[in-house]
Amino acid sequence: MNVRDSELVSNRLMSLGYSPTENEEEADIIIVNSCSVRGKAEDKALGKVGLLCSKVRPGVHVGLMGCMAQRLGESIFGKVPGLAFSVGTRAESRIPAILKRLETGESNICETGVFDEDSPNLGYVAPSGKAVQPISSFVTILFGCNRRCAYCIVPDVRGNEHSRVPSEIISEIRALAGTGVQEVTLLGQSVMNYGKRGFTWPSDIPSPMGFTEPLPRLFELITRDVPQISRIRFTSGHPSGVTNELVRAMRDIPQICKHLHLPMQSGSDRILKEMRRGYDAATYVEAVAHLRTAVPDIAVTTDIIVGFPGETDADFEDTRRVMEAAQFDNSFIFKYSPRPGTPAAQMPDDVSEEEKMRRNQVLLEDQDKRGLAMNQKFIGQVTEVLAEGPSLRNSTRWSGRNSQNKIVVFEPTSSISVGDTVKVKITDAHPQTLFGELA
Ligand code: 5AD
Ligand code: SF4
Repeated sequence: MNVRDSELVSNRLMSLGYSPTENEEEADIIIVNSCSVRGKAEDKALGKVGLLCSKVRPGVHVGLMGCMAQRLGESIFGKVPGLAFSVGTRAESRIPAILKRLETGESNICETGVFDEDSPNLGYVAPSGKAVQPISSFVTILFGCNRRCAYCIVPDVRGNEHSRVPSEIISEIRALAGTGVQEVTLLGQSVMNYGKRGFTWPSDIPSPMGFTEPLPRLFELITRDVPQISRIRFTSGHPSGVTNELVRAMRDIPQICKHLHLPMQSGSDRILKEMRRGYDAATYVEAVAHLRTAVPDIAVTTDIIVGFPGETDADFEDTRRVMEAAQFDNSFIFKYSPRPGTPAAQMPDDVSEEEKMRRNQVLLEDQDKRGLAMNQKFIGQVTEVLAEGPSLRNSTRWSGRNSQNKIVVFEPTSSISVGDTVKVKITDAHPQTLFGELA
């Protein structure tokens, strides 16, 4: 979501006549986007913005945006001398006005978002100038989150859940398709809640497939109104959102990619309850089974937190067991980090840093073995890849992703272009990557 917010801000600046640079030394304005989800993310952003401010040329403005800007408000100026401005989430639309104020000599400008339904969001602006046009783009469809998991700061820094209306989403996707985008990833902290609150699906948009839920209806609408979009992804999920209609949409709409990111967080029922996740391990595993029955080749990935307050060895072993049962294609493991103001921050952070590291490492090793076994199933198969360009590790080879969101590395032909959909026969597999040749 931060990547998308940064893109929207830089597009807006380009439309005002600024041009992007990769070189910090030649920039006139540098805005650091920040994440508050874990302490380490905040420390990194704070370190970066502090360093930039300490060596800035006269006349250059350094600003902060995103969740940390929202959380810290005016107090950020005490932590970072020389910071010109700080803009919270949902206040990014005020950046152009802030830049004008800076020109008049104002400094220490702080704007934080107001979390009401009408708060201004920075809508899509077509980039002008020499932006590199991607073939894949994020599109935020749902702001904020109402779930209030005990460890999570997101509801405090991104506010209440608020869905964008379909017409706005469609015009953004249409504009993206006009620039060559073929794949969209629809974003929301709890994306399956799309259209659930304070929202009525427009009665004049029919559902030929007979859906009643807003998210499947939005998928249908995108396929109808923006046929250039060949792939639709969405993230992040919650087991309660794995409904019959969602599963049917994933099975029957060809553009929907066969991948779901479904954060599990823990496999221990006791910890899940303390986390206020709203499901137990069995319900979670059932949701995955429901998906896999309908869509046998679907890839499922997850997020796990290790070292939540009170997590015992037995709780951790439950997590290992459930992760194996769920057969995750990939897992993102995080060490619990207490976040100010969250219910979990009131509990003792009683798992030592060493033990958090150990549990983190064990889960990564388990996942490597599992990921390798899952990926080896692709060997000998032909998989469709959206070509993204030369591979980062070895520029003579190209890479892209298949529907399951697996990175596929292959030998290109001389006539290949970015954005081509190619068929690749898989010859080798690593835990995170597939390798193959054009079929
Ligand atoms: N500590 C560690 N990990 C966290 N996450 C969210 N809050 C915390 C926290 N306080 C993780 C969750 C979430 C992912 C985006 O970040 O796993 O799914
Ligand atoms: Fe945070 Fe839970 Fe909302 Fe995800 S669902 S953003 S973990 S409160």
